[in-house]
Amino acid sequence: MKALIAAGGHATRLRPITWTRNKHLIPLANHPMLWYVIKKITDAGIKEIIINVNPGEIQMMRDGLGDGSEFGAHIHYLEQRGGAMGIAHAVANAEEYLRGERFLFFLGDNIILGGINHLVERFENEQLDCLIALSRVKDPHRFGVPVFDDAGKLVRMVEKPKEPPSPFAVTGIYFFDHTYFDVFKTTKPSARGEYEIADVISWYIANGKTGHEEITGWWKDTGTPDALLEGNALIMDDLPREHFSIEGDVHVDTQVQGQVSIGKGTRVSEDTLIRGPVVIGENCEITSSYIGPYTAIGNNVKVHETEVEHSIIFDGATIDTTRRIVNSLIGTNATLVDYKRTHPKTGHRLVVGDNSFVEL
Ligand code: DAU
Repeated sequence: MKALIAAGGHATRLRPITWTRNKHLIPLANHPMLWYVIKKITDAGIKEIIINVNPGEIQMMRDGLGDGSEFGAHIHYLEQRGGAMGIAHAVANAEEYLRGERFLFFLGDNIILGGINHLVERFENEQLDCLIALSRVKDPHRFGVPVFDDAGKLVRMVEKPKEPPSPFAVTGIYFFDHTYFDVFKTTKPSARGEYEIADVISWYIANGKTGHEEITGWWKDTGTPDALLEGNALIMDDLPREHFSIEGDVHVDTQVQGQVSIGKGTRVSEDTLIRGPVVIGENCEITSSYIGPYTAIGNNVKVHETEVEHSIIFDGATIDTTRRIVNSLIGTNATLVDYKRTHPKTGHRLVVGDNSFVEL
């Protein structure tokens, strides 16, 4: 079986981070978000992967994720012709690679704990035409939602209904047979101008052998900063023990508590406390600081006399402030300094990009 991953789209809710980077490359526990999706897919035995990307982003994605050899797989990057015109369109765009096949379609911003092997097996063993994965959520109106009749039979799917007909979200893990491409040709863009996967799935429910399965473990679509931080924390909790190792230069008097990973070339001073789970990349300098639980620090980062907790610090950032940094995303090469270290000694001096969010 082949898999297609959707990794295009505009990710406006994650600006300014996504002005310069495709959102699927945002690091969670120091791997790009999409790395975990590829890992789930390859762990389920699928080794031929197509990644749908925005026009002009193939090189950026290949630089961030490679050719698949790390996973014993082959990755082909494919531009979505015409840009992000809806996720149903992203699948249709890959027709030349998927024609005549049964395939998995995975939305690249979906993070789940646990494997997908049971879904692959069910789709194949029962020779379903379509299989969708559901998750019980408290806010179904933000998602595609399945509709059941009084007898509990799945009758269709609706996209982001104001009044949700059931407490489930249709997650971004779908399986389809070769009929997909003919069905797609009968659909039209919705009122919001996108080709909706809900229309294709509703056709399968009415005309094909369609299964649905509830995912009971943690599932999240990482469209907002808060969801990203939650994903970062959940992934750290889920990382196997052997993932944590200290390869950097850590002073004997440094307090390192819990599961902590420190990369090569990173130096940590003696008057620092690191309380895991924490992942720190390579060639960082951490001095006189507290690094608290659920913090992921990339490569070449400097942290001086600062408290950081439950945050994602991207490569090359510098943080040097007596203020406590919590629940934050600090972008590549960003600098945070204490106003007391600059002149005049009062007031805040800010260089803040478009659509930034700053809480002082
Ligand atoms: O996360 C599950 C939800 O994903 C489902 O419940 C909805 O039924 C489904 O429509 C989708 O809703 P979203 O509003 O979350 O979709 P979004 O536009 O965020 O795109 C989902 C992923 O697909 C994301 O990784 C970006 C990518 N994408 C999106 C579009 C519109 C593409 O690759 N191409 C596109 O044209």
